[in-house]
Amino acid sequence: MRVLTIIPTYNELESLPKTLGRLRAAVPGSDVLVVDDNSPDGTGQLADSIAAEDKQVHVLHRKGKEGLGAAYIAGFKWGMAAGYDVLVEMDADGSHKPEQLPLLLTAVEEGADLAMGSRWVPGGSVVNWPLYRQAISRIGSTYARIMLGVKIKDVTGGYRAFRRSTLEALKLDEVESVGYGFQVDLAWRVAKLGLKIVECPITFVERELGASKMSGNIVVEAMINVTKWGLSSRWAKLTGKKDAAASRA
Ligand code: GDD
Ligand code: MN
Repeated sequence: MRVLTIIPTYNELESLPKTLGRLRAAVPGSDVLVVDDNSPDGTGQLADSIAAEDKQVHVLHRKGKEGLGAAYIAGFKWGMAAGYDVLVEMDADGSHKPEQLPLLLTAVEEGADLAMGSRWVPGGSVVNWPLYRQAISRIGSTYARIMLGVKIKDVTGGYRAFRRSTLEALKLDEVESVGYGFQVDLAWRVAKLGLKIVECPITFVERELGASKMSGNIVVEAMINVTKWGLSSRWAKLTGKKDAAASRA
């Protein structure tokens, strides 16, 4: 399996080299694509200098900050065009331990169409994550589970390994959310296609360097979207009509 790990970055100058070093050591077989949104702190240039020394590291530069979802979609397209079999999502800040990537890759090898790192299954955990962030994550996940009828415990989680065929089955151009709602959107689309999703317990470690890009707006966007998708798919079921939101997948 040819594996590409996609790392989106916005102002991750201090974290990126550490995470890249750990990833290259833990899973030397995986190529890496850094997707930088023209970070003002120079993360993009730093990534270029690392890529110049390491043939397995690539950099995709984007014009400006367009959000996590847009960065990942650009990265997926790049990776699919380059012929990778498995495409991994990983944060740059060390929260997703590169040493745990083999768990996700093994799940895909064993048949998962999407392997998701999960904080909220037995064996999963969070370290140093502020209580309010844990609350947002748990409440958000529970709300999405109820509204969308998905069984995934950590539906906003961002440590994932997609089988290439899974991404091919999704209409990536129709994914609306730019922020973290993007993660929910993608997971829901995969679930609706009836593909095999496996949640693997991970230890999520709060970043030690730099700042989170999470904001109130991002949370609100995700809540509004989940509500909209949930209501429109319920409405479609009630009326027997084709659901505009549900048929997007
Ligand atoms: N290119 C690009 N563009 N990268 C971005 C952008 C953007 O607009 N916004 C965030 N990122 C990158 C960050 O640089 C980091 O590598 C990763 O996306 C995650 O961003 P953080 O800001 O560290 O997220 P978090 O720790 O608050 O959020 C965590 O929890 C979320 C909710 O559960 C992550 O695990 C998310 O993946 C998860 O959805
Ligand atoms: Mn983070």
